[in-house]
Amino acid sequence: MAWQTGVVPRPTRPRRLCRGFFIGRVGRSIDKAVLFLMDKDSTGGHVPAGKQDDRPTYYITTPIYYPSGKLHIGHAYTTVAADFVARYRRQSGYDTWFLTGTDEHGLKIARAAAKEGLTPQAFVDRAYADISALWRLLEISNDDFIRTTEPRHKRVVQRLFEQLHRQGDIYKGVYEGWYCAPCETFLLERQLVEGNCPDCGRACELVREEAYFFNMARYQERWLTYVEEHPDFIQPAARRNEMINFVKQGLDDLCVSRTSFTWGIPVTFDPQHVVYVWLDALTNYISALGYGEPDSKYDRYWPADVHLMAKEIVRFHTIIWPIILMAAGIPLPKQIFGHGWLVLEGEKISKSRGNVIDPVVLVERYGLDAVRYFLLRELPFGADGNYSEDALIRRTNVELANDLGNLLQRTLAMVERFAGGRVPTPAQEGAAQRPLPVAAARAWAAYAEHMDRLELSNALGAVLELVGRANKYIEEQLPWDLAKQEGKQQQLATVLYDLLETLRVAAVLLYPALRRAPEGILRQIGLDPAALDFSLPAAAAWGGLPAGGLVHRAESLFPRIETEEAVPPIAVTQLTMSVPAPVPQPAAQVAPAPPPEKELISYDDFAKLDLRVAEVLAAEPVKKADRLLKLQVRIGDQERQIVAGIAQHYRAADLVGKHIVVVANLAPAKIRGEESRGMLLAASTDEVLCLVVPEQPIASGARVK
Ligand code: MSP
Repeated sequence: MAWQTGVVPRPTRPRRLCRGFFIGRVGRSIDKAVLFLMDKDSTGGHVPAGKQDDRPTYYITTPIYYPSGKLHIGHAYTTVAADFVARYRRQSGYDTWFLTGTDEHGLKIARAAAKEGLTPQAFVDRAYADISALWRLLEISNDDFIRTTEPRHKRVVQRLFEQLHRQGDIYKGVYEGWYCAPCETFLLERQLVEGNCPDCGRACELVREEAYFFNMARYQERWLTYVEEHPDFIQPAARRNEMINFVKQGLDDLCVSRTSFTWGIPVTFDPQHVVYVWLDALTNYISALGYGEPDSKYDRYWPADVHLMAKEIVRFHTIIWPIILMAAGIPLPKQIFGHGWLVLEGEKISKSRGNVIDPVVLVERYGLDAVRYFLLRELPFGADGNYSEDALIRRTNVELANDLGNLLQRTLAMVERFAGGRVPTPAQEGAAQRPLPVAAARAWAAYAEHMDRLELSNALGAVLELVGRANKYIEEQLPWDLAKQEGKQQQLATVLYDLLETLRVAAVLLYPALRRAPEGILRQIGLDPAALDFSLPAAAAWGGLPAGGLVHRAESLFPRIETEEAVPPIAVTQLTMSVPAPVPQPAAQVAPAPPPEKELISYDDFAKLDLRVAEVLAAEPVKKADRLLKLQVRIGDQERQIVAGIAQHYRAADLVGKHIVVVANLAPAKIRGEESRGMLLAASTDEVLCLVVPEQPIASGARVK
């Protein structure tokens, strides 16, 4: 039986320590070659000075996001997916480089800044802080973060533009046509849908200005040949066919500069022009590697292994970017993967549609692992899929709490009861035929194959299948009966060992996806995660758990989310509690929130709310929830507790004695284990949150209507 299925061209593995079936250890490795793979969260490889790093490389990118507003669950989706892949590749021995960043120039940003009364630079600086804090919260392991306003990026864009102009690919003319500022796209009259952008549906503007153009048609045939000869270049296959059809219809020249605004990278030889924001943005993938600089990362990591993004920007990445690269004589990335959209009630989740969900609120409510797991597992990677909080709760409860959590709890309870809390020694014979070693080997093979094809949900599905097999094995073996029977001690020990070892393998495979649970599982089965070598495939091989260790049953890693306890669904467009704590802006600079756009309600609807004045009697932070405060309030002659997500905006002590307004008849809910009976009212923009308070002193309990 092949225990390590080499599905992809895998890096040459360091010498395996496991020689026999059960001799292998996951413990501290003495193999020097393995040592530099051990840094689990390494940002880049750790190669001892003076040593040549002969690991294969893997370069993965996300789109660089527009910092025009707070990022939402859709952006988190791509970034968490890229993080899973990057961590998996690091674990698999690749010298991995993971890049993300922000796309900070262009009309869209200039206008968003103007609306807030800020300079574009001040505006993007603020957004950058917010975005990088979000990635820290989601524990994204990017090795670099590129901002297109950085000099290292500008230099490369300017040189590239000069080169393309010098060699005659770029020429000067006049652009007369349509422009969609939110998508930063030039459009032909015939592409508009009732005068609006075919992609985002918003109004386009007619533009006439001097501009430089890139002669795309010159590269059309070369592009078609390349794509035909490289079937994996554009993935999934449906997007590839779409792009081929598009190019076959003939490519128009692309406008690559603008003169009607200045927020961009100036064209060196004609500084009235700024480089078109998409040409500027796409170049990030090489500028971040120091393209054109001596001894740069470009030499090591380019061409990228995969540019990851959602389908709406696949056209820019698969047509414009490769053609620019072809023209510049730069090798093309190996793959462009356009995944599907997270959809809410049939519509793409997007800032422009206003139907966004804040990942920060989700993490606060359900924890990082539940959110990461949902994002990675819910959608078949490549297809569209629905976002819903119910689906997140279901995934957590069914797969993490029921399947995995129960397996862990049951196994540990039996090890305590029947094996004195120690990892038992299994039978040495027949392991290759036992169901769980066989299932574990299959799980690894399927997992690796799926990961290599970026079928991320299926990869996790393979782990869940293994977990399911182990749960079934308990029912087949009935360890509690074995314990009662004479002469069954060896069999019982083997069953318990196999269950523990299955949990270890599952934890190793979940390690790149989840940030808390895998280490928790390993600790509970008696291993010290800090001392482990997670290198794949060795760490996934059967037999890594040494017998004799003490297990440590602790609190459940995946508490079930009780739906009757669940708080009301997170409001769509709820982006008020983002990280980091925003710096309040002077009132004059803060753009007012857009006018209300919710549907009209009747007075009766409104009258259902029991709004009351409440006096804050006491307030304190909620443990392990740095955004929540727990308030004791008095409403008339009643006292009750309310939990509110305002800790980023108010100090607990400052609230005591305040009179606030609360929804008194909101159904009780549990937030982070704390009962909340009611909800306080606060007004908020993206930057500021302030409590709604009575304009003059009034008794608590007073009605608000
Ligand atoms: N700035 C450009 C990209 C330039 S890359 C050289 C841009 N930025 S964006 O902020 O609009 O981000 C778009 C990307 O965010 C999508 O391609 C996708 O990766 C992610 N998503 C945004 N909303 C999403 C969903 N609803 N669902 C899935 N992914 C989503 O375009």
